[in-house]
Amino acid sequence: MAMGDQLIRDEPKRVHIRTYGCQMNVYDSERMRDALTDSGYVDTDRAEDADLVILNTCHIREKATEKVYSELGRFKARKRENPNLRIAVAGCVAQAEGEEVMRRQPLVDFVVGPQSYHRLAEMVRTDSRETNTDFPRASKFDSLPERSTIQRRASAFLTVQEGCDKFCSFCVVPYTRGAESSRPVESILQEAERLVEQGVREIVLLGQNVNAYHGIGADNRQWSLAEIINRLARIEGLCRIRFTTSHPLDMTDDLIAAFAECDKLMPYLHLPVQTGSDKVLKAMNRRHCAADYLDIIGKIRAARPDILLSGDFIVGFPGESESDFEQTLSIVRQVRYGHAYSFRYSPRPGTPVADRPQVDSAAAADRLGRLQTLLRSQQEMALQSMVGRRLPILFERRGRKRGQLAGKSEYQHAVHCQADDDMLGEVTEVYISSAEANSLSGEIVVA
Ligand code: SAH
Ligand code: SF4
Ligand code: F3S
Repeated sequence: MAMGDQLIRDEPKRVHIRTYGCQMNVYDSERMRDALTDSGYVDTDRAEDADLVILNTCHIREKATEKVYSELGRFKARKRENPNLRIAVAGCVAQAEGEEVMRRQPLVDFVVGPQSYHRLAEMVRTDSRETNTDFPRASKFDSLPERSTIQRRASAFLTVQEGCDKFCSFCVVPYTRGAESSRPVESILQEAERLVEQGVREIVLLGQNVNAYHGIGADNRQWSLAEIINRLARIEGLCRIRFTTSHPLDMTDDLIAAFAECDKLMPYLHLPVQTGSDKVLKAMNRRHCAADYLDIIGKIRAARPDILLSGDFIVGFPGESESDFEQTLSIVRQVRYGHAYSFRYSPRPGTPVADRPQVDSAAAADRLGRLQTLLRSQQEMALQSMVGRRLPILFERRGRKRGQLAGKSEYQHAVHCQADDDMLGEVTEVYISSAEANSLSGEIVVA
């Protein structure tokens, strides 16, 4: 490389990564950033300064995918101004329709699927237009460089499990992320210890189906997620552990018991049910009925009565009748969620129900509105129930207003509070004085 770019330019190259979709993409983006930093790139949050732009995409609903194409369209002018700008598409759209992305958008230089990020540094060095969406045998986790010492927030994601074998009939994840696979215990522990050394106080264990975790330990045995949590709890300096997202079928007794027994496991659980109708649950291939779900919720509440439950819902699944939908409202009333996401069904190419007749659009929109009104009122109740209490808050970042820090309660509510910067990364008792639509405010309790 006689006249390589690096030699001509004094400045290091800059990378701008945009992340869409779930927390696993947030984690992957961090790992990509670390890998590129290792290869001499500097991170920038301004796309206009970048030499390399990576869109880390989501394919879960049609809107998510369309966003990628419209975002790419916006880079057309920028690429005309700067012909050296390289644009990459990563994530689940890359995996699902990488070749189509290359055809539809000639300005894309390369496409890299979620299992191939360890090849990223090599791909940015070559000039060819390339699509890399293999599911290699070697895991990206073992081949990516160690996580760098970039200034970390107090809370960090750590992916322990990827892919999914559940094949819910609406979902693209088994196709975009591939078969379910769990990282070995030792590599998780090492990463966790390193994060804590870097100042992380809360670790959120991630997986598309995280409670199906069954990685191999140094003892050659398969560990459960509960065992990982209990082991992580022994790391000094780590204050809080969370995990997401879980499938009801994998909510094992040892994991439920961890909510009672492990102080560091936070009282918050995202456990999607999608619908309250047994008929729709069956058509979705969720492999449990509404009563099974309520049973599990009962056991979890027995173990940890104050737990805050969160969920996902799909309305307008093909064949959903008004009475099916009312069963969704009914299960929501029975569970009482503190937080939830709800979506209108979006037919995804390649999934088994994509071609079924759709629920009337106006009816689906009306149902989503009614469900969201109910969920919002439950969320407000959960927030209001915190007012007047003293709660331990982990301060994670500066707040929007001067002199303010933003943190999280054990129940994962965002909390804003006047506090000095040196409180960042500390768990402090806060008196909750008011609740807003999505967050709480309070004052530090002076001892
Ligand atoms: N593994 C998680 C969900 C991952 S996808 C689980 O099993 O619960 C996140 C959420 O997106 C799902 O829970 C579902 O509510 C929603 N979702 C997935 N596919 C969808 C589709 N085709 N249309 C609408 N919502 C969808
Ligand atoms: Fe998708 Fe979750 Fe079902 Fe897996 S368990 S197919 S990720 S919805
Ligand atoms: Fe989206 Fe892929 Fe996550 S489809 S939700 S980014 S696993």
